[in-house]
Amino acid sequence: MGESVLTALFADAGLERCDGALRLDGVPLDAIAEAAGTPTYVYSAAVIRRQFRALDDALAPVPHRIAFAVKANSSLGVLRVLRDLGAGADIVSGGEMARALAAGFPADRIVFSGVGKSDAELVAAVEAGVGHLHLESPAELASLARIARELGRPMRVGIRANPDVTAETHPYIATGAGGIKFGVPFDQVLPLARAVAEHPQLTLDTIAMHIGSQLLDVAPYREGVARLLDLIATLRATGIATVRTLDIGGGLGIRYRGETPLAPATLAEAVVPLVLGSGLALVLEPGRYLVGSAGVLLTEVLSRKHSGGKDFVIVDAGMNDLERPSRYKAYHEIVELQRRGRAVGAVDVVGPVCETGDFLALDRPLPALERGERLAVLGAGAYGFVMASNYNTRPRPAEVMVDGGRWWVTRPREALESLWAGERATADSD
Ligand code: LLP
Repeated sequence: MGESVLTALFADAGLERCDGALRLDGVPLDAIAEAAGTPTYVYSAAVIRRQFRALDDALAPVPHRIAFAVKANSSLGVLRVLRDLGAGADIVSGGEMARALAAGFPADRIVFSGVGKSDAELVAAVEAGVGHLHLESPAELASLARIARELGRPMRVGIRANPDVTAETHPYIATGAGGIKFGVPFDQVLPLARAVAEHPQLTLDTIAMHIGSQLLDVAPYREGVARLLDLIATLRATGIATVRTLDIGGGLGIRYRGETPLAPATLAEAVVPLVLGSGLALVLEPGRYLVGSAGVLLTEVLSRKHSGGKDFVIVDAGMNDLERPSRYKAYHEIVELQRRGRAVGAVDVVGPVCETGDFLALDRPLPALERGERLAVLGAGAYGFVMASNYNTRPRPAEVMVDGGRWWVTRPREALESLWAGERATADSD
């Protein structure tokens, strides 16, 4: 990793070195690790605000709403920062809806996406009065229409179309091409839209897409938006004139190593002119862009090992705490909390979980770290804690928010007993 990339990553994350000690928004990360223990996720409110404002400003020429994809980070502290900025919430489950409401998002700023929604989730959404619900199938429409009729409540719906555009990203997180489970295929949108129009409780308000995640190229957005606008024109030509909103999903990529992130201005230049003439409002559902660079995972070194010609550093955070490296071979930069200027050599940074695939980084230049030294894993604010599990009966990490020089634990580390609370070992146990 070149110094200039590291400098850029530090700027993205609100990190700086002061006499070798790593600080986040002025707070020494060692002090947080000392008090809260490790592994711990630490988020910067200032970075989240900076990201939100940059996107919000770039989109200023069109009426728009930025609905944060709660799946990326559902910490109440993070959600509260975004709610206070005026963001909406993009959710994919009843659980995320409950969280968004608990964090104080008004129901009408909530967008319910998601490839499959149960009746219970549809009932909860209609009862709460969520602002928009994106349909994925005729079966879902039938259930929603019945529920809205029974409850006597109106509902604004959208259709998530699959624009069949190819986006360059990891195949597990590309969602806009044909032959995958997401969205309604283009040729099935018109019949579904007609079916919506038959239900007086429902109004077709939105046409939506989401084409993938960690996208760095603007072309698929431009292409997808053009296709959706064509589709809306077709709907209008056939007498369906209720569509007011174009939702272009999330997907904006961030810098994990040397990438050039997709700048809000670049996205706006491509999309805003297309949308301006249409009279539509724009909705975006970014997750990673808003919070990815805003989080680090603090971890402590447990031991070192030399085996089969390789050097390993075993740390106290594993794949159950941060799954991205082992699941996607994702790259996360790792830096010392206290830099001591020692010589470096290639090491694998691995966790304590009993899986060979449990690693945070492979072949990284790091010094001969000793037990008790601490590291920060960068770019861990999105799809970090939310994907954590209790595998190996490991409590999930604590979460901390840093804001304006203050910091607090937004979520304590799980207590061991809570991991089996509610279990019944035998048929007769209470
Ligand atoms: N909207 C919808 C309908 C989505 O499915 C997603 C992400 C987003 C918005 C937000 O995408 P973003 O702006 O964060 O790229 N676990 C993977 C990422 C999975 C993304 C799934 N959908 C990872 O760690 O990279």
